Amino acid sequence: TPRVVTTIAEVRAAVAEHRRAGKTIGCVPTMGALHAGHIELVRIAKQSTAFVVTTIFVNPTQFGPKEDFSKYPRTLDADVNLLAAVDCDLVFSPSVDEMYPEAFTYVDIAKLGDHLCGPRRPGHFRGVCTVVLKLFNIVLPDVAVFGAKDAQQARIIVRMVRDLNVPVSVTIAPTVREADGLAMSSRNRYLSPDERAVAPQIYRALQAIAASGEPNVAKLEAELHAKLTAIPGARVDYASIVDDETLQPIATIARPALVAVAVFLGTTRLIDNVTLSPL
Ligand code: PAJ
Repeated sequence: TPRVVTTIAEVRAAVAEHRRAGKTIGCVPTMGALHAGHIELVRIAKQSTAFVVTTIFVNPTQFGPKEDFSKYPRTLDADVNLLAAVDCDLVFSPSVDEMYPEAFTYVDIAKLGDHLCGPRRPGHFRGVCTVVLKLFNIVLPDVAVFGAKDAQQARIIVRMVRDLNVPVSVTIAPTVREADGLAMSSRNRYLSPDERAVAPQIYRALQAIAASGEPNVAKLEAELHAKLTAIPGARVDYASIVDDETLQPIATIARPALVAVAVFLGTTRLIDNVTLSPL
């Protein structure tokens, strides 16, 4: 079982000791309530680095006032057991006071936050970038692994690292799915049995769009919207096709595109995405 530490001083000391011993350091930032998708990120980090730190911190600065910060699942003991199975070396699970002792500096984000989740979750990516940069500065990893499931987040972090010259190599790992296609998420546990039964239709709609061959983005978006709206109990937050790199709106599929959706099933907001290449 990995050692669990809660203070910045303890992580720094543990990492420094292993670095002195010549080991490379990996980092997998999470908010806990771990599932096979998170565990896969740790497995991937272990392939390229010798000492892997998984951080578990439900970060208040990335939740809006009406979002699920206080009810976000906290399952540390189960998380640590799952991490043991993939030889995670250290778990950093700080308190809010340890990470945010007082008013502080935020990382502002650029145009990659203009669409998709950005406008629907004001301040969200600012909170994500701020906490991820803090975690990078605490752990000082050689490699950090993030999931493609949070496509916009992954691109924003890659961009932050480049723009702010953070000396870390960022790996983006593919989305891990349930057998029926539903993207694994800590929030899936909020779904009622009825909601869980229809949830795989989100990915099926994305797959249908990716396979359609239609180059006109307005038509594709309309079709995607219709498919998602047809899911019983679903409310579409957005269903957008944007440039895969800049995340800006496009009119036709001439370059790789990102098809990204956010759908409410009841009060649970699920996101998923696929990439779409021109024929
Ligand atoms: P969290 O939602 O816990 O996700 C932690 C990491 O796991 C992210 O990089 C996310 O993309 C990845 N992940 C989640 N579900 C996945 C799946 N089904 N397949 C592959 N990877 C998956 O994302 C966050 O936490 C936070 O915003 C964080 C980056 C930790 C900053 O607070």
